[in-house]
Amino acid sequence: MTGTNSISESFTAYLTANEGADPFPIFDRMREEAPALWSEPLQAWVLTRWDDITAMLEGGDRFGPLMNQPGTSSIFGRAILQMSGDEHRRKDAIIAKRLRSPRHLGSTIEEIVSGLVHEYGDRLPVAPETADLRRGLTEPVPLGAIAELMDMGEAGNFRSWYNDIVAAGTSNVTRDPVVHARGEAARDELFAFVTPGIEQRRTCPGDELLSDLCSMEYEGERLSDDEVRSFTAFLLSAGIETTDRALANLVKHLILEPEQWQRLKDDPNLVSSAVTEILRYRPPVHVTIRMAKHDNEVAGVTIPGGSKVVAFVSSANHDPSRFDNPEVFDVGRFVGEERPNYTPIGPVRAFGGGPHTCTGSLLAKLEMERTLEYLLDRFDHFEFAGDVPPDTGIVLRSPTSLHVMLHANN
Ligand code: HEM
Repeated sequence: MTGTNSISESFTAYLTANEGADPFPIFDRMREEAPALWSEPLQAWVLTRWDDITAMLEGGDRFGPLMNQPGTSSIFGRAILQMSGDEHRRKDAIIAKRLRSPRHLGSTIEEIVSGLVHEYGDRLPVAPETADLRRGLTEPVPLGAIAELMDMGEAGNFRSWYNDIVAAGTSNVTRDPVVHARGEAARDELFAFVTPGIEQRRTCPGDELLSDLCSMEYEGERLSDDEVRSFTAFLLSAGIETTDRALANLVKHLILEPEQWQRLKDDPNLVSSAVTEILRYRPPVHVTIRMAKHDNEVAGVTIPGGSKVVAFVSSANHDPSRFDNPEVFDVGRFVGEERPNYTPIGPVRAFGGGPHTCTGSLLAKLEMERTLEYLLDRFDHFEFAGDVPPDTGIVLRSPTSLHVMLHANN
């Protein structure tokens, strides 16, 4: 058996075991021995090195969006990830104008996020009761923020639509047709829910993101209703589970490594660095997907045009060519160097790279920092209520739930 075969088998074993299996040791081997690996179950080429992944994300002429396949973000219809060139730049700018503007971030968005953190945080039960931290805090904060930013309120079924749509997107690595069909049904219900709001904002726009989408013009034409619906579904999905899982990873590792929690208690100036570090060390999004536009040579292997390419950004974040001691969780690692990591120029690949780098990264940063500050301010320490929850998921990865005992400050 060749070394590459055994790596291939180990990687397949990881994909199928999933529950609790640690991907980082196999990523170490793949970066060393097979940095561009064909995966039969994924029907895709898998990249694991920082340099190759960054080049793929930056190389819009070589790699483009993967359209209209189960197991991709095309479940939302044609949204921002499926666009390129000038159209992508202009349409992304509309979202960025609201989500990345220092004026909005420093006022309206700050107020919304801080309000939500306090609203939900203050309701958390303290020890000896058990708090469900994902349900009680890390999910409702980003969910409430995006719903308010789009002035959508929260529809009764919102959580289940959103769960089904997310499951049928890039998380559906095995392209399960049942999961896909459930996602399409949920998307159609969500589309029906937002349609009257779109009609209303076409005639009477307000000062929020959904109105921006309804009013913007590209080449003299407004976005079609279909496009606004797709953008809306994508934003709702992109902005909630990601931040929710990132916060779950942060709390889990601060419980596992109490000396890192103590460093933060002693010096709250480390908050911003700690948030950046968890996004490197245990990013909630492990994978970005593209299609090779033509034959491309990557790490000595020819990837044929038309192939699906799966880039493990989580592996890039542990590439020793970029990060010293990548397996160490160090809340002080990024002090003074946090900000570039929320843009394409920083080394952390948690938000992707190149032109499609996450537009909501600064919103996620704010949500995570305010939540961590709140926890530090209010609690002396936490512990797991029961066993350590394992990380699950291949595309989105974190503990599925986080039941903890919160010990308030004396
Ligand atoms: C910790 C939280 C988050 C993480 C780790 C994350 C991660 C990512 C990644 C990896 C991509 C690139 C996907 C690709 O290139 O295929 C992306 C794109 C995107 N994200 Fe996020 N995201 C987060 C939060 C958010 C939030 C809060 C929003 C907004 C509400 C958001 C909106 C977007 C948008 C609009 C794109 C598409 C950008 C484009 O195509 O130009 N994300 N995100």
